[in-house]
Amino acid sequence: MSGTIRYFFQKQIHQVNDIPATRTLLQHLREDLHCTGTKEGCAEGDCGACTVVVGEVKDGQVEMKSVNACLQLMPTLDGKAIFTVEDLSNDQQLHPVQQALVDCHGSQCGFCTPGFVMSLWDLYLDRQPPCAALERKQIDIALSGNLCRCTGYRPIIDAAHKMEQLPRQEFDKKALLEVLKTLQREDTLDYVHEGQHFYAPRSIAQLSTLRIQHPQACLLAGGTDVGIWVTKQFRDLGHIIYLGKIAELHHIDETDNTLEIGAAVSLDEAYRRICQHYPNELSDLWQRFASLPIRHAGTLGGNVANGSPIGDSMPWLIALGSRIVLQGAAGQREMALEDFYLGYQKKDLRADEIVTTVRIPLPRPHLIFRTYKLAKRFDQDISAVCAAFSADLIAGRLSNVRIAFGGMAATPKRATHAENVLEQQAWDEESLKKATTALADDYAPLSDMRASAGYRLQTAQNLLRRFWLETRPDKPLPTTAVNVFVASTSIQLEAK
Ligand code: FAD
Ligand code: FES
Ligand code: FES
Repeated sequence: MSGTIRYFFQKQIHQVNDIPATRTLLQHLREDLHCTGTKEGCAEGDCGACTVVVGEVKDGQVEMKSVNACLQLMPTLDGKAIFTVEDLSNDQQLHPVQQALVDCHGSQCGFCTPGFVMSLWDLYLDRQPPCAALERKQIDIALSGNLCRCTGYRPIIDAAHKMEQLPRQEFDKKALLEVLKTLQREDTLDYVHEGQHFYAPRSIAQLSTLRIQHPQACLLAGGTDVGIWVTKQFRDLGHIIYLGKIAELHHIDETDNTLEIGAAVSLDEAYRRICQHYPNELSDLWQRFASLPIRHAGTLGGNVANGSPIGDSMPWLIALGSRIVLQGAAGQREMALEDFYLGYQKKDLRADEIVTTVRIPLPRPHLIFRTYKLAKRFDQDISAVCAAFSADLIAGRLSNVRIAFGGMAATPKRATHAENVLEQQAWDEESLKKATTALADDYAPLSDMRASAGYRLQTAQNLLRRFWLETRPDKPLPTTAVNVFVASTSIQLEAK
């Protein structure tokens, strides 16, 4: 066990052993290293001013990903490489990303610009010419975590197109891989500062031992929920056990009818794989889940384990009949995901257990499945309501009906009254009407800053109607047409 954080930054290896375990990367860059190119806007993952790119060794390769420096705790950077806006230009010239922003007037006050530069650089690195010209959607996804108050974004989008027209500046991943290999550990990092331990076990066995020794320790995965507890709620986390270095939690396996996702698999990787099987049903939700940097850092296991009543993965996981595997001193337990949530922020997770795997059924014949996220903004917004519907539709009749919502109760929750009304019934307007009424028996939603109780219930009923319009056996409407229908009805609703 050794207690020094070692990372690669600005062409050299840094060793740190005298900062708090909850020091964020942003604080370390700005206040300890006086590298102030990376900015702080919100300190909660929302604005993108702090975007940096982190390189780490994954499956023997270097993986470069944009993340929010304000949410990443320094000990998680052990063994990794950090790149900030100061790294891109060399003494003679700007990087093509920077030059394109200058040429397209993509910066006014400049406060957001370093974050945009790093998000664009992440996109730039991901593409190896010759490749087709960047599409607007790819740029929108790459920049989904960056806010700008001045430019109106047009010049920044122009710069994203232009950066690939300038002479390309290659990045030597091979050289970086050789450096990072020297920083990898076999053993658990045990970083201690003023009595607070940060453990980064390498295996589930090491984790279980630590979990039994420190049942109160905070489990840390991608830090996109926990990071805010530090930066905004100033919580004392006590000892921390980091799951990010446990290879067994990073697996994705496929059996004949189940997709198994390890709890530490990033949201972006998990959704990318899941959307290969459910492209039409889940791609929209995937792109609307937070922003790209949050999806790079956050994990599916963290979303499920955090169990927020408005978490976006749980409704559709429950609607599909997904299960989770827990591991503790007494061995493994497996349960239906809906059974994991016992009440607001109460889960069936014993003190020595962790979530290790999420098991997702793969598509089956006759399955009809949809999920809809309702939020005020397209990107980077927490759902007001998140709906998911699935059933088997055979000869116009429904069976195995599963309906789940987020944002409608203290936990992600199934709509059992509506399900019972629809089970074994014809999928027609008659049964739809009965199920719509039954939804009011399933939920008594709250009013909050995102939506009123009335709006939530009405939109939940509308989304059930949307599901019928898109999957009715007689004349299903293509999703695009339905989008217009739903938009017009919800506007009427708000107008009342
Ligand atoms: P962490 O923050 O590391 O941990 C979260 C919780 O889960 C902690 O209590 C931790 O102890 C526990 N935990 C983590 N892994 C395990 C495990 N394997 N076993 C047991 N316990 C575990 N969420 C949405 O659903 N939709 C959104 O659109 C969305 N947008 C966001 C936007 C921003 C700007 C931010 C900051 C967050 C957003 N989130 C959103 C919330 C968050 O990103 C997700 O919940 C994410 O999946 C959490 O994963 P993580 O790995 O970062 O978890
Ligand atoms: Fe706003 Fe990090 S400071 S996202
Ligand atoms: Fe001022 Fe973007 S240039 S915030």
